[in-house]
Formats: sequence, C-alpha cells, structure tokens
Amino acid sequence: MKECLLALETSCDETAASVVDLNGRVLSSEVVTQIEAHRVYGGVVPELASRNHIMHMRELCEQALESAGVKLGEVSAFAATSGPGLVSSLLIGSTMAKALALAEDKPYLAINHLEGHLLSPFMGYGGSDEDLGMAIPPHVALIVSGGHTMLLHVKAVGDYQLLGRTRDDAAGEAFDKVGKMLGLPYPGGPEIDKLAVGGDKKAFEFPRSMMEAGNLEFSFSGLKTAVLYHLPKIDLKDAQTLKDVCASFQEAVIEVLVEKALRAAKLCGVLLISVSGGVSCNRRLRERLVERGGQQSVEIKLTQPRYSTDNAAMIGFAAVHRWRAGLRSALETDVSPNLPL
Ligand code: KG4
Ligand code: ZN
Repeated sequence: MKECLLALETSCDETAASVVDLNGRVLSSEVVTQIEAHRVYGGVVPELASRNHIMHMRELCEQALESAGVKLGEVSAFAATSGPGLVSSLLIGSTMAKALALAEDKPYLAINHLEGHLLSPFMGYGGSDEDLGMAIPPHVALIVSGGHTMLLHVKAVGDYQLLGRTRDDAAGEAFDKVGKMLGLPYPGGPEIDKLAVGGDKKAFEFPRSMMEAGNLEFSFSGLKTAVLYHLPKIDLKDAQTLKDVCASFQEAVIEVLVEKALRAAKLCGVLLISVSGGVSCNRRLRERLVERGGQQSVEIKLTQPRYSTDNAAMIGFAAVHRWRAGLRSALETDVSPNLPL
C-alpha cells in the first residue's frame, strides 16, 4: 500500500487533482484548464469558473487516483487550497476534500495556494529517494503569478518573511493586460513570451519602476500605461513592430524581477533564489535569472514548467510538508480569498 495524500486545487480557473506520496513524490497530477471557456470574455469569470470546477471535480479525483494506482480507501489524508483565490472557486475544492475526509474518516489539510507555489521549485529535488525535496534550505523566494508578485525570505518551511510585493498589478496580470491591449488572446503571458523571441528588446524604452536602492516593492501599472500611450503611435498590424513591443515590455518586467530578487538575496545573506508561479514559465525570465545569478554566484532554483502554473501537485507537496510536521486542519476551516502566507 502506498501512503499518500489526495490534493485538490480550485483557487482560480484550473481544476486540479493530484496524488502525492508521503515522501513528496508526485504519483499523478491531473489538470483541466478552463482557459478556452474564459477566453471569449478576455479574463476569468468567477461564476463560470466555479461551475466548471463542479463539472470536472469528481471525474478528476477518480482520474488522479487511477493514474496513481491508488484506491480511495488507501489515501491517508485529503488536502485542498483554502486561499487566496476566488471564494466561489475555492469552495468547490475545499468542500470536496472535506467531504472525502469525512466520508473516509481521514484528516483534512487546508493549504495556502502561495505556499504551494513557494515550495514548488523543490519538488522532485531531494537528497535521496526517501527525501524528495523535503529539506528546504534558507533562501529568497520570488513568486510571480497572475495574482501575486512577491519576494520572501524563507527561513524554514512555515517561517516566511515578506520582503516586498506589488503595489498594484501582479507581473502576470500586467502581461495579460498588455496582451489584451495588443489584441492577443487570453492569457497574454505565454503569447508575449512567444512573440518576444523575434523582437528587439531595445526598440521601445519602457519604464522600470521602484528601482531606487533598497526598494523591494514592485509596481507594474506605470509600465502598462506606458505601453498604452505608445499604441496610437505604432502600427500593430506590422508583425515586427508587435514583436518589438512584446520584447521591450517583457524585458522591462523581467529586469525589475531579476534585479530585485538578486538584491533581496544579498540583503538576506543567502546564495539561493527559488522562482515559482505562472510567470516563471517565461523563457526570457528563466534565461536572465540563470545568467545574472551565475554572475553573482547565486543559485537559481526554477520550478519545472508543468508545476509553475496552477496545479494540485504543488498543493499536495505543501500538504506533505505540513503532514510530516504533524499539522492537521479542522473540518470547520473556512476558505479565505485573501489568506496571507
Ligand atoms: O500561477 P498561475 O497559473 O495562476 C495564479 O496563481 O495567478 O499564473 C498564471 C499567470 C497568467 O498571468 C499568465 O499569463 C502567466 O502566469 N504566464 C506567463 C507565461 N506563462 C504563464 N507569463 C509570462 N510568460 C509565460 N510564458
Ligand atoms: Zn497560482
């Protein structure tokens, strides 16, 4: 019998279920993305997201168990994201996990979505087969997703000091909003990433905000407005111009993220930066982090792309850390749209 947890993630528009064993090994990771359903609206529609979660949840749990080769009765505990996120979406996964815990008479674990992202770079990187990413060294974590952009000093699992966060848009949100302005399909992040490959990063001079010494906060709304002001002056139907805007905008976001992450590492006296969240899929961000990290002898731990965007394996992985620390959640634990880390 494999000792394992079943974890569910429904904080936004991805319905996900995963089975993770108690050493942190991912036995299955199923994700149904709703991107197509929301694309016509140019963003996530909460009502639609929760309806879709309900439609897929049961089948997804069955699939996750089947591909892991695990029977429901063999699961040691049930975990779900309890925040932050859309309340109507969070409720679907957490209610399902609580119902399963109650029916199977097993513990329930409420997991912070941000802790899932934060620990995800360590998934599958253990010192031994029995310790797959369970030892988390002190480091600086950069979380860059559609909803969050933050730098944290990770002293140990559960001991996180917020160093800086965005004052306005999250990095992924800026990618998506600029993508929309440029007439690209939702979500704009991956589209801009692709188009930027053939573009000139220096074609447009876009602002890098809050770069003054010691500042670890972020702000992307000025950059977004700068792109908007340029639009009437340029011809987006020209394929090269579109690529140039994408490359120049992307570079402005990335330079700020990379330099501030390195600055934070120096401030905390650590030589390791972990990077997670949907935006960490970005190829140029990954390339620049490794390049600049190398120059400053700072190791960069990047999340594998399949665990960068929302998924339940990272929730299961965080749940295993909590489980091994002896932590359990009461079935009364409510979801919390603004749950802090
Ligand atoms: O972590 P995630 O799936 O959801 C949140 O928790 O927010 O992140 C989704 C975000 C979206 O804004 C999407 O545009 C962005 O990640 N994203 C990217 C790339 N892939 C996903 N942004 C830039 N480049 C990419 N390759
Ligand atoms: Zn996320």
